[in-house]
Amino acid sequence: MADGYRYDGLFARANSERVNGPLTVGQRSLRTLPISDDARLRVRERVYRACLAAIVEGRLSPGQRIPSARSLAESWGVARNTVDDALGQLQAEGLIVRRVGSGTFVATHVVTRPRHARVRPVSRLGKRSLRDASTRGAMAARDFSPRSVPRATPFAAGFAALDAFPHGVWRKLASRRWRKSDRQLLGYLPASGYPPLQVAIANHLAFARGLRCLPEQVMVLGSSMQAIDLIARVLLERGTSVWVEDPCYPNVRAVLAMAGLRVAALETDASGLIVERALLRRRAPALVCTTPSCAYPSGAVLSLARRIALLQGLADTRAWIVEDDHQVEFTWDARPLPALFALDQVGRTLYVNTFSHTMFPSLRLAYVVVPTTLIDVFHAVRRQLDDHTHGFMQVVLADFIADGHFSAHLRRMRTLYSERRGVLMEAAVKELPSLTLGGIACGLSATLALPRGNRDAEVAERAWRSGLSVLPLSRYTQRARGSNGLLLGYAALTESRIRDGIARLAKVLARAS
Ligand SMILES: Cc1ncc(COP(=O)(O)O)c(C=O)c1O
Repeated sequence: MADGYRYDGLFARANSERVNGPLTVGQRSLRTLPISDDARLRVRERVYRACLAAIVEGRLSPGQRIPSARSLAESWGVARNTVDDALGQLQAEGLIVRRVGSGTFVATHVVTRPRHARVRPVSRLGKRSLRDASTRGAMAARDFSPRSVPRATPFAAGFAALDAFPHGVWRKLASRRWRKSDRQLLGYLPASGYPPLQVAIANHLAFARGLRCLPEQVMVLGSSMQAIDLIARVLLERGTSVWVEDPCYPNVRAVLAMAGLRVAALETDASGLIVERALLRRRAPALVCTTPSCAYPSGAVLSLARRIALLQGLADTRAWIVEDDHQVEFTWDARPLPALFALDQVGRTLYVNTFSHTMFPSLRLAYVVVPTTLIDVFHAVRRQLDDHTHGFMQVVLADFIADGHFSAHLRRMRTLYSERRGVLMEAAVKELPSLTLGGIACGLSATLALPRGNRDAEVAERAWRSGLSVLPLSRYTQRARGSNGLLLGYAALTESRIRDGIARLAKVLARAS
């Protein structure tokens, strides 16, 4: 990132203050330099303060190179001497070092506070930012608890075992691609994705999921949530009604509400969405969003009878079905049931899946398989949005799948996670004999039902203070008397961390009751 930063953008972001007065003609190009509260400050002082803020706030990290005084002066439209002078002061203060012949750098000993490391509890989301947001934006923000960037601490859910990822293979494939210096990879890709990746995904789906589709039906996106967002905006009118499962992954509700849709949360039980009851509703929805292979966080699997009933019940309506085949790769007690996409006779199902759990979350690659009739409209709309997803990562992933590394990795992870799942079950029986572990038939997490007397949100808060990231199940439901329990992600944890974590959780629960 060192030289990749554009200073003007960097500093512009730092500027939350308003311009106090009009700039003189000679200073016009200073627009991107932060303007101080105090309009009387001299330009040199503003340059100095801007650099200082960037260093102290960690936007420039220790050891990072600073562009030359000449280029800074050019982009800000100030005299080179002014920038030299300001940098001279930072040098005298020991914050930067200037090495003849190699450039100017932030001193390595500077203690900074990287912006992303700041934890901002929800209570400090800020009334001002909520007031400035749209109603939909404020709703989505309010529902979310941005405690920090998710980390694979016990028992944070949704994490693959990142330490077991075949880094060496990935590195080799990536550097092989860069070595080839293929100029085509530097240009634009088709909006639906890098064609060999579309082929690799279509082949993988046929082989692993028995799902037949043409490669051009596959559109590669940055996440499942981006896929759902795109589907909602391409296919649905604002204000129409969509069904989601309750409980469900809260981001799904947020994405659909942000698209201006009315979200109805439908009841589920141990066999997933209660389709019979849903179909009794007066009006068919414009779209149903479902996770038949592994509902989150309940781990419910939609029965075959309900899959067929859902498809038949909606066949004569204009409803679309989004099948989020979340964590179908980790189905433990039985083989995965046929996908809705494969059972659908009328071509109204869109199949979504992500590589966040099978590969690693920062990869930010997912895909949707659309009915053939929708290929063109999705392509045309996407061209005008983000165009396409990160090209280079698509290329490396295509090689990873085509060369057989993806299926090998999945096989290894299934063995590893199934062992860890066994350890979790064993530890729960030993340490928490009076509680029931559920939601364990599929996925990378389990649920722990709590007795009525223990409110899950309170237990989760206590556990948090003991270093355990357990989320309350009540967070995932819209119902007042929804589930009361904890969500325990286990796949990313070694056996000893699982045992130790469960022993600690048992102590938290003992204290709570
Ligand atoms: C049902 C469901 N879909 C999708 C995701 C995440 O997918 P992505 O990272 O691609 O948005 C999750 C994460 O927990 C999930 O629960």
